[in-house]
Amino acid sequence: MATAVTPVPSGDVTQRVGVEVIRARGVDVEKLIKMLIANAAAEFASTYYYYTILRMHLAGYEDYKEICEDARLEDRAHWELIVPRIYELGGELPNDLCEFHNQAGCVAAKLPSPPTVVNILTLLLESERCAIRSWSAVCDVTFGKDPRTYDMAARILNEEIEHEAWFIELLAHERDGKSIPSGHFRRGEPGEAPYSKNARFYNP
Ligand SMILES: [Fe+2]
Ligand SMILES: [Fe+2]
Repeated sequence: MATAVTPVPSGDVTQRVGVEVIRARGVDVEKLIKMLIANAAAEFASTYYYYTILRMHLAGYEDYKEICEDARLEDRAHWELIVPRIYELGGELPNDLCEFHNQAGCVAAKLPSPPTVVNILTLLLESERCAIRSWSAVCDVTFGKDPRTYDMAARILNEEIEHEAWFIELLAHERDGKSIPSGHFRRGEPGEAPYSKNARFYNP
């Protein structure tokens, strides 16, 4: 049941109508900020950073490198998309990078040992699955209450689901000799991020 919106006095810069309206609709804003910081940390500190290392080690698999590069750059796009929303909601990023890293909502995608292509693809797949769970949770707490955060989370979720499909296809092929199509073709440019950058979809 929605509660009344706390009135924000004229000229008051210490409160935000954009926050009070979603609080009145039932959003736990402090919890949402924590979730967004955890997801931002997973996108940037964990996924974007570690995917860079993982991509470097896909030597000899130029096609896999390109798919990894798409996922890597799209995680950077996810970071760019969501960080301003944290501040709009009245939150902020931790000033300390180690502290930020440790708040990540997904396990760091560190280089596996040994760094075989199958081990790397398995790790990439599980990272995408963590991202799907994390962004779905943000969609769940904002649906019907906070359309702006919901729209951003849903855009990111669209791409995470595609990333999972890419790595299922590659891992099934590489490890099991099986064909499980993702249903997608390569992006037009690496890191195109059609949803989170609001670019065109596959059809030219
Ligand atoms: Fe992401
Ligand atoms: Fe992803």
